[in-house]
Amino acid sequence: MKILSVVGARPQFVKLAAIAHALKASGDDHVIVHTGQHYDANMSDVFFEDLQIPTPDVHLGVGSGSHGVQTGAMLSAMDAVLEEHQPDWVLVYGDTNSTIAGALSAVKLHIPLAHLEAGLRSFNRAMPEEHNRVLTDHAADLCLAPTEVARQHLVNEGLAARTVLTGDVMTDICLMTAAQNADHPISLPDGVDPGNFVLATIHRAENTDDPNRLRAILDRLAGLAHAVVLTAHPRLVTRAAAYGLGLRQGSLHTVPPMDYPTMVGAVAAARAVVTDSGGLQKEAFILRTPCTTVRTETEWTETVDLGWNALALDLSLLPDLVDRPAPAPTNATPYGDGHAAAASVEALRAHLKK
Ligand code: UD1
Repeated sequence: MKILSVVGARPQFVKLAAIAHALKASGDDHVIVHTGQHYDANMSDVFFEDLQIPTPDVHLGVGSGSHGVQTGAMLSAMDAVLEEHQPDWVLVYGDTNSTIAGALSAVKLHIPLAHLEAGLRSFNRAMPEEHNRVLTDHAADLCLAPTEVARQHLVNEGLAARTVLTGDVMTDICLMTAAQNADHPISLPDGVDPGNFVLATIHRAENTDDPNRLRAILDRLAGLAHAVVLTAHPRLVTRAAAYGLGLRQGSLHTVPPMDYPTMVGAVAAARAVVTDSGGLQKEAFILRTPCTTVRTETEWTETVDLGWNALALDLSLLPDLVDRPAPAPTNATPYGDGHAAAASVEALRAHLKK
């Protein structure tokens, strides 16, 4: 079996790591195409090195741009790649512009398309990611659902016959990395004590691109009673500078994007996480660190239902949410048990078009 993975953005490299390891173990051919959506070394290269992902076979070098320009550049570069490699499956990951570009390229060339992390829904049509994931699910020949909730969304949309519940490959990598981290104490900024800091990330357009909203978020974080380690995505740095907002005020200790092992170590060591990232909400749950999500909804509803995640629907609630009582312990595994990548590879094999 020959799989061609299309990736481009940071969270996709983590998912790719799980699949690359599983395809190596099963002896299948794997072609990796990097679109270049994320290109800074600390947003891309370090993930390939730390997670031992093979160097991409193809790099499209697309870079940043408006949604249409970025997605279109990927799409126009993909035809030649797919024609050269002729895979059994094109595998796309998550909900980014690289996902929808890979999906459209495959279906236009009649190459079977599989979507990993299928069936997630925020039901917020203002999010670019919501369109990317809905369109990709409906284009795909095989939808690999990470959770029962995601599987049910696909069933509700008439996609049951193409859907397989696999578990979440991010769990595979998070658990593996946490185990490897046991021997490596994480390094924190001066003045920050392990166990007594809040780990924060803010990068989504709805939080960064409105100056008043971004100011309010940064003010609330800076005013927290505990040290806040804010790992700053490039968009946050650019927008804060453009709006004249300080990333080093009050409790804030702003640091560059972390590599994956450091991030997992920081989540595990933090007293709380504050984020608008999808993956981090799950990683916080897996590592049992309470999370507060700076969004009006989440795709990962299990984290909220189990009490380990709370939505900051009103920013004034942020300090109280961060300091809320510890959630009830749980043994629930809504994101699988760490074997989702192998299950995904088996689903790809079982649904191979002869
Ligand atoms: C993308 C995904 C989002 C995911 C996020 C993870 C889409 C629509 N969104 O958002 O779902 O949560 O990745 O990070 O695909 N930049 C750099 N260097 C880089 C990458 C980006 O400087 O290596 C800057 C550029 O100014 C760019 C901006 O960050 O314009 C935003 O990057 P972009 O790839 O457009 O989307 P993300 O916000 O990262």
